[in-house]
Amino acid sequence: MTEQPNTCNSSDKKVSFTADYHPYLKTFYGLPFTQRISDLTGSRAKWEEMVSACQKEEGMSDEEANGILQMATIMEARYKLSGQAIRQTIEKLGIKRGLELAAGFSQRGLEFTRDYPGLVYVESDISDGFKQKPELIRRVADEEGVAMPRGLSFVMLDAQKRGDYKSVLNEFFPNGQAMWIYAEGLFAYWDEEKKANLLGIARDIFTSRPGSKLITPDLSMHNEGRIAMFEHINGYEKLVNFIVKRTKRDYDSLAFPNEQATTAFLDRQRWKYIGLTLGELGVSLNSPDALKIPLAVRTPFVADINRHMKAWVLTPDYT
Ligand SMILES: C[S@@+](CC[C@H](N)C(=O)[O-])C[C@H]1O[C@@H](n2cnc3c(N)ncnc32)[C@H](O)[C@@H]1O
Repeated sequence: MTEQPNTCNSSDKKVSFTADYHPYLKTFYGLPFTQRISDLTGSRAKWEEMVSACQKEEGMSDEEANGILQMATIMEARYKLSGQAIRQTIEKLGIKRGLELAAGFSQRGLEFTRDYPGLVYVESDISDGFKQKPELIRRVADEEGVAMPRGLSFVMLDAQKRGDYKSVLNEFFPNGQAMWIYAEGLFAYWDEEKKANLLGIARDIFTSRPGSKLITPDLSMHNEGRIAMFEHINGYEKLVNFIVKRTKRDYDSLAFPNEQATTAFLDRQRWKYIGLTLGELGVSLNSPDALKIPLAVRTPFVADINRHMKAWVLTPDYT
């Protein structure tokens, strides 16, 4: 049995199931710090343990077990795309304070506070594993010869609970100063009610911090109500079945909206958005060195990611 990465309440465990594998899936394309984080968290072993359990329990073939690593391409696209959106927010809008929700083992806080001195970057999560994140990042910074950035902080925060934001806002995000809130790999698991709750919380926070933005790649991951991009991956369905059984999640309850539905949802919630696609941002995933694993369907697959994946920079509409 693959160990659950945290001891949160049962519905949150389901969201957290994949967090342990993200570091390994991000090691294929030369992003800073990822290899070290993956090594220190034992991410590769956890991934391989899960895939081998999936082979036993779901009849996943060896070929599928190798092919499933193509999920890394999507992780790459998502990481780069949303990174560009945050960079634009920092550089073009001059917003230099950010709160990352559900940060897990992501290296972005370290990467961004290294790249932008003076940046205030607060990472948050609810999982027990996250309590070790400050120590993990300190070790990574140390081993990579990077000074531990002063602007980087870590807090425990349940993104659905208004009360959890209070002390974090008081400490790091003064009234009157614009901020961004960022999440990756979180909203796609949430139904409309949870998404609407988060938008309500963000709107209230942003009211006293005009110009603030919510940034996420999560809302448009899926096309026509199906898991469009991941479906290109041979064996992904078996992995999903496996995860669903492990998490006892009713997968049908994941009502991923298509792009029109996402837009309509945001309109209903009165949020304005700018959707940035990979193409618009000039992010190319076609470099042969970008991902050093064999990718039989790489070209059409990457083209599809380019077509569908967006990073959303969202602003509440106060009018
Ligand atoms: C799929 S992982 C993504 C981690 C990270 N953002 C990344 O891309 O590598 C989901 C994360 O969401 C966290 N999480 C789940 N529910 C949450 C909630 N209500 N509030 C804050 N974090 C939550 C989990 O603990 C886990 O770290």
